[in-house]
Amino acid sequence: MTDPEKGLFITFEGSEGTGKTTQIQRLAMRLEKNGRQVVVTREPGGTPLGEKIRHLLMHSKSGANMVPRTELLLFEASRAQHVDELIKPQLARGAVVISDRFHDSTTVYQGVGRSINGKSVETINEFAINSHVPDLTILIDLDPEEGFQRIQDRNTDPPDRMEQENMNFYQAVRQGFLDLAEKEKYRFLIIDGNQSVDEVEEVIWNEIKERIK
Ligand code: TMP
Repeated sequence: MTDPEKGLFITFEGSEGTGKTTQIQRLAMRLEKNGRQVVVTREPGGTPLGEKIRHLLMHSKSGANMVPRTELLLFEASRAQHVDELIKPQLARGAVVISDRFHDSTTVYQGVGRSINGKSVETINEFAINSHVPDLTILIDLDPEEGFQRIQDRNTDPPDRMEQENMNFYQAVRQGFLDLAEKEKYRFLIIDGNQSVDEVEEVIWNEIKERIK
């Protein structure tokens, strides 16, 4: 039996191509080796309904004319379902839940990138997360020029709808994350994404091993 008092909620954030997904896999393996139950999930997505919403947001032709308010509400709809169906019950049974993106992505992509009023974004974020603020948020910081280069080097898929903005958008997103991390220092760990994959893994593990003792 796992201890319900010890559930831990970790989120990974950053702009495109920062290596979050690789680091999440590595962290999950290390945690499992240390005897923890781990649930890896992502946003948008993480539940069957959320994955359908992800498709609408990122890949469907029907999303081509999506206005920013619709985009915001779809990310939040996916999130509300994710929190109730997966995150909350898994934390309650004592698992470590690691999510590839969560509400900070909305604060930054929709609030800063799409210029939606910050107060509205905050209110609807709070409504969707229903008090499930992450215990720790790992921000991998990298120049988006470098991030997109890495994406190009590793896959030939056409860019999804969220990857089609100009570089100013992603530079604003990068800065938005750094500003948010400064404001909510107590839960953020900022990591320099220019380091090697192994180095980033070590920095993350050093932080987390203290928390799971
Ligand atoms: P990713 O799974 O490859 O990170 O792609 C998700 C995309 O969706 C990425 O461009 C960030 C964006 N996004 C938002 O704009 N708002 C959000 O709330 C979330 C979770 C993601």
